[in-house]
Amino acid sequence: MPKYVLLLFIILVLSCQDKQNSFVTTSEAHLDDEVLYEMASTYLFALPHTAADEAHPITDDLVKLGKELYFEKAISLDKTVSCNTCHPLDNYGVDNKPLSEGVGGAKGARNSPSTYNAALHLAQFWDGRAKDVEAQVEGPLLNPDEMAMLSKEAVVQRLKQLPKYKTLFAEAYPKNTQITYPKIAQAIGAFERSLMTPSRLDDYLEGDLSSLSIQEKQGLKKMLDFGCIPCHSGSTMGGVMYQKFGLFDEYQRFTKSENYDAGKMLVTELPGDKDVFKVPSLRNVTQTAPYFHDGSVENLEDAVQIMANLQLGRTLSEQDIKDIVAFLGVSADWRGDSESGFLNLDKQMTEK
Ligand code: HEC
Ligand code: HEC
Repeated sequence: MPKYVLLLFIILVLSCQDKQNSFVTTSEAHLDDEVLYEMASTYLFALPHTAADEAHPITDDLVKLGKELYFEKAISLDKTVSCNTCHPLDNYGVDNKPLSEGVGGAKGARNSPSTYNAALHLAQFWDGRAKDVEAQVEGPLLNPDEMAMLSKEAVVQRLKQLPKYKTLFAEAYPKNTQITYPKIAQAIGAFERSLMTPSRLDDYLEGDLSSLSIQEKQGLKKMLDFGCIPCHSGSTMGGVMYQKFGLFDEYQRFTKSENYDAGKMLVTELPGDKDVFKVPSLRNVTQTAPYFHDGSVENLEDAVQIMANLQLGRTLSEQDIKDIVAFLGVSADWRGDSESGFLNLDKQMTEK
């Protein structure tokens, strides 16, 4: 695009010539825009249409079965809890409680992260103990604090009692129609791989620089300048690495967490993994309060300040926080035209 390059060059020359001229000021703003976009797009990417990959292909029939299973309460001990109970899809995939309640009101030790976009993370759970969404499914089904089923066989038996699954499994697995546990995990995983939330942020990252307001751009710029984005990076603004929570101080002093949680060290038993957690995705974060692994912080403004204190050793001004929160809201402004077709189904996403 030589014309485009030439234009950029002219703007550059003009803006170098006279900084007082008002025409040049607009051009400068435009130039800053290009620079900001360049910087942002080295770390952040638009979401893919789905999180399917070679090892985990998805079909419409698998997604349909997985969706049914996601809302299925019959696969919890007392038939009252489904995946959607703690990860409601009509509420950004979270229940907005510090700690979720499973069968019989049992509480676990951690806050429910969203299932939207989660399939893209490098691993699942706050400590990454499940390698992908398929492996993750076993956790909640058999966890006594969640769906509390006693065995994999019991889960399969419950589904065999419901005639609709005979059809759904036959459609999703025409060659071998048996209901099995690995297929349940694969189908729920396939459904989760379709749960993407393309938004105004993706319009921007795909090159429509007019899709962010000036304040939102300020927020993005500040997150880049302060150094938030190297940790919260990739298409999900997080979920791509593990980091210590509290590089400059003990996290509990700031979050006022009631219980101490050593994070990844609980899984690996390595001292170097003390207080290490998966960096969470910031997609939709304005809607997913409360914050941190134990839901100990209620509002986003406080969470952002705590991040600056604990991870960057600095204190942000009120204006900085406002701008950052404005930028973080952009990803919750869903586009609703996902090619996976899923966002168009949101009317059906309410619990049955
Ligand atoms: C009782 C509430 C509850 C139920 C029911 C539940 N979950 Fe979760 N889910 C959680 C909590 C809490 C975590 C975080 C646990 C941790 O990291 O140690 C979690 C984590 C996850 C994650 C990891 C996301 C990430 O960012 O790492 C996925 C994916 C997920 N759940 C999917 C499901 C699916 C699928 C089902 C149904 C089979 C389900 N959950 C049922 C509470 C629940
Ligand atoms: C060194 C890496 C690192 C840096 C830098 C960093 N974060 Fe984080 N962030 C994390 C980790 C790790 C967590 C999870 C902590 C926990 O809950 O255990 C987190 C959590 C968060 C959360 C809570 C998300 C949720 O769903 O609970 C927000 C919001 C956040 N960060 C925003 C920011 C902002 C804004 C900045 C810059 C001011 C920033 N982070 C800088 C690593 C980082």
